[in-house]
Amino acid sequence: MKRVFTLAAALLSALGLYAQEVISTKSTTMVLEAEKGHELRILYYGTKLSDEEIASLKDAGYRTQRAYPAYGLINTEEAALAVTHSDGNMTLQLQVSDINEDTWEGGKLITITSKDTHYPFVVKSVYKTYDEQDMIGTWTEITNGEKKPVVLTRYFSGVLPVRVDDVYVSHLYGTWANEGRVCTEPLTRGYKLIKNLDGTRNSHTSHAEVMISLDGKPQENSGRVIGAALCWPGNYELAFHTTDEDFHHFLAGICPDNAAYTLESKETFVTPELALTYSEQGLSGVSRNYHHWGRKYKLAHGDKERKILLNSWEGVYFDINEPGMAQMMEDIASMGGELFVMDDGWFGDKYPRLVDNSSLGDWVVDKNKLPHGIGWLVKTASEKGVKFGIWIEPEMANSVSELYEKHPEWVIKASNRDIVTGRGGTQLVLDMSNPAVQDYVVKIVDDIMGENPDIDYIKWDANMPFSAHGSQYLKNQSHLHIEYWRGFVNACDRIRAKYPDLTIQCCASGGGRANWGALPWFDEFWVSDNTDALQRIYMQWGTSYFFPAMAMAAHISATPNHTVFRTTSLKYRIDVAMSARLGMEIQPKNMTEEEKALCRNAISEYKMIRPIVQFGDIYRLVSPYDDHGFASMMHVASDKQKAVFYWWKIANFYDEHFPRVRMAGLDPEKQYTIKELNRIDLKPLPYEGKSFTGKFLMENGLEIPATNEPEYSKKTDWSSRVLYLEAK
Ligand code: GLA
Repeated sequence: MKRVFTLAAALLSALGLYAQEVISTKSTTMVLEAEKGHELRILYYGTKLSDEEIASLKDAGYRTQRAYPAYGLINTEEAALAVTHSDGNMTLQLQVSDINEDTWEGGKLITITSKDTHYPFVVKSVYKTYDEQDMIGTWTEITNGEKKPVVLTRYFSGVLPVRVDDVYVSHLYGTWANEGRVCTEPLTRGYKLIKNLDGTRNSHTSHAEVMISLDGKPQENSGRVIGAALCWPGNYELAFHTTDEDFHHFLAGICPDNAAYTLESKETFVTPELALTYSEQGLSGVSRNYHHWGRKYKLAHGDKERKILLNSWEGVYFDINEPGMAQMMEDIASMGGELFVMDDGWFGDKYPRLVDNSSLGDWVVDKNKLPHGIGWLVKTASEKGVKFGIWIEPEMANSVSELYEKHPEWVIKASNRDIVTGRGGTQLVLDMSNPAVQDYVVKIVDDIMGENPDIDYIKWDANMPFSAHGSQYLKNQSHLHIEYWRGFVNACDRIRAKYPDLTIQCCASGGGRANWGALPWFDEFWVSDNTDALQRIYMQWGTSYFFPAMAMAAHISATPNHTVFRTTSLKYRIDVAMSARLGMEIQPKNMTEEEKALCRNAISEYKMIRPIVQFGDIYRLVSPYDDHGFASMMHVASDKQKAVFYWWKIANFYDEHFPRVRMAGLDPEKQYTIKELNRIDLKPLPYEGKSFTGKFLMENGLEIPATNEPEYSKKTDWSSRVLYLEAK
């Protein structure tokens, strides 16, 4: 029956009568209506449908919506595309002219070409399926076939109508040291706008990703949820527009504010990819789709384990010197770590980097601090048994630097205005739109790597927004927000082509570049400059909505915490950091032998669970945002043989009564043996070494004591558990 139907559909399609374009992945279906001579429309996105069900959508009363509304002739809807033709006309009338279906290794590439009815102006709507990951990437390719330039005033990547119902949207917001906070709210009538205007760091204030829950208040492991992630590292706009009708209209793309783009004759503008996914397994289901897809297609080395490192920043800040670095290398090696990263403060000749008010741009070693150069550090690290990594901030300069003295024309600056400075009162952003700056950025990495090919890791930072709108290179100032990133991509592509094995961390004042548009050249990102374990639970929870644990750098740091001044127990700090890419950011010299022993043990246990944390599937269980006094989540290996369960108390009161936590993602038939990791209690938990079926653990769960019970003098007001589950 199915075959007959498919043949009939193919025949009708060949005759040009059957206009439905079905885009499907393993468990999802999107149906477009791409009738030649008509505007491209979308009929359906969600649960996978059979051919028969697709054919009966119209009979079920489903109505199409505009798939890429262009401004001009229907103006009551938010436009995805708006232009001014060279003759001043501001309208578009796009009609489908061609449909092309191709395959690539992960799925299909469907291109629907629409042409304007009057002007030689062409828009290709591309849909790329990532079949296994249930992802559909969509973008547009806009070509000006006119003789003169056309100005694009809006150029979104894609549009998705969402049927009005009990719909909720979850998105991330925050600021420096408070990144990745979850906001969940009902989608009501009117406008909901999520956008970013920083210029260089687009995930501090809000994120370019959302989840749209279709079945009321979102649940972690059940319910239908759509995910949308705009893969663009610059300013973005994600908009929901709902008038008194049946659909919320969702649009996502580059933020058009102050960024009108003049498209020259014959030029094509390609909008960034909007990655859409859908799951019936709740928010965590959508997260798993993003994690699978990100690890396979978007993240550098998504199939390789991340090293356990010590970063020098919170340990010594700018106080870099050879004995100090060697001691830190020795200490991290002795605890079982694998990498040492020297952070800010190592460079500058004429202007040594003593604090944050000089030297960015002068990437030569400060001989007063490090007389034997970087080579000595790399060699010493190797002797101690760890790899070596180094911090740079290549897109930036200080006005107090040799670079600025030589190339004042390289910085972002508006004409007829003074420079506007940032951090330290002297920081400036280099103009990545300038090819000379791109060459210079590549050369920074080339010089460091050329002299020291054994460097294993680079922390690439970016600590300033565009505080002035102005390129001293570009003719058209409104192209800055586009050309900066084209330049960034050019430099990153060249660096990656030359150094494919290098690990590169994406850092931008903490978590300012947690975005799928920035990450393809990077292995991981720094989640936040705030390393306080309690606040990290909230931030890492939100960040895990869209990014996999292997990409989320989480470091054990000192107490009182340097940002919030909270004192948490070392076990608590370890238990939180172990749920992502574990590292340390502390002066080991100041740790007691007992603390070092706890970390040594944690590092060795993390090595055992590392493949589960870094390649497994996330199941978030109890959200810290729901105020139950604790939070809990799991990572489960893809074959369900092993899992890690985390439980963190987030408020401390006497005589508390917490519910059991029902686990998720296990194989109901398998028998799992429980082992507590990072144990500090005098007595083992009652279930230590015992086995339970996955069914029991998922239907009932284990009793987690409200407090840790070490010897009396070691009790603290913090409690947490990490349990390792292994199936027989
Ligand atoms: C930023 C980063 C920090 C650290 C400092 C160094 O703030 O987020 O981790 O590298 O810069 O100046």
